[in-house]
Amino acid sequence: MIANVSTILTLLPLLAMAIPSTPEIAIKKRSVTCLNVGATATATWTNSAGQSCSFVGVVGSNYGTNSAGSGDYSCNGRCGTGCSGTAAGNVYTQDCFSHDICSYFNNASGGASDPNCGAAYDDAVDDYLLGVVDGCSQTNPSSAVSKPTSTPVCT
Ligand SMILES: *[C@@H]1O[C@H](CO)[C@@H](O)[C@H](O)[C@H]1NC(C)=O
Repeated sequence: MIANVSTILTLLPLLAMAIPSTPEIAIKKRSVTCLNVGATATATWTNSAGQSCSFVGVVGSNYGTNSAGSGDYSCNGRCGTGCSGTAAGNVYTQDCFSHDICSYFNNASGGASDPNCGAAYDDAVDDYLLGVVDGCSQTNPSSAVSKPTSTPVCT
């Protein structure tokens, strides 16, 4: 038994070394597209039915909570929840905008596990991690809640 424990302890550093030192991001050809607060942008995602959805909105818009009364959609397009959720900084990107808008209209929860917005969440992970380095930092707007007047188109 002692020998087995010793073997496991010996292998631990090797497991740690198995984590690649080069980020997977480059291999997956992911990309970060910055957006400017106040600009018009088109959110796109694929829903749980496999349809392509799109919605045109304003970066940094404040939709408040979703129609179920939950969530924080106070700074749409910011990587991180609302205007103040944990993040590396106040970074606004295309993928974070798409994920926020998808989440708002689908009452999404659970991040990557959400059936409608999980893929959009996955696409936004590199934006969340690299947005500051990629120069996507913006000043948060401080706009009052204004609900969207249209809904996404899914085909
Ligand atoms: C979101 O939740 C609200 C309130 O329960 C409900 O009326 C609405 O249909 C839900 N939207 C979606 C896309 O599930």
